[in-house]
Amino acid sequence: MVDHATLLARAREAAEHAYAPYSEFPVGAALLTADGCLYTGCNVENASYGLTLCAERNAATTMIANTEPSDNAGRRIDTVAIVGLKARPCWPCGACRQVLREFGCTTVVVEGENGEPLSLAFDELLPYSFGPEHLSKEA
Ligand code: THU
Repeated sequence: MVDHATLLARAREAAEHAYAPYSEFPVGAALLTADGCLYTGCNVENASYGLTLCAERNAATTMIANTEPSDNAGRRIDTVAIVGLKARPCWPCGACRQVLREFGCTTVVVEGENGEPLSLAFDELLPYSFGPEHLSKEA
């Protein structure tokens, strides 16, 4: 299994690819799926600021684009690591938390103030969350 330090290192590499000319705040994300595959993403900004894509959502959509719809474990996020080159720790924004929730993310890893891995259960970041299973439940 890939450890947290390795995931953070991959997230940092991804952050080096960021397209962030407006905020100058590069972010990278590395996610590990339930079947052990790794996908990365960086933030991609736009002159029309609102179209900015965060690193975590970039990684999640890359996972989907590279897996078959029937590949359940391949589309489950076990752990996501996030690195901001200008901020420690760099926690995921609210929109990204909801997208990570969609794919069952269980653990979030960020860098602590000294670069050490800091991990949190996903439920602590997004408690009482809404997810796909709620759509098929009777009230
Ligand atoms: N950003 C991310 O990529 N992920 C987050 O969870 C927080 C924010 C990006 C978006 C924007 O390009 C820059 O960081 C500043 O907000």
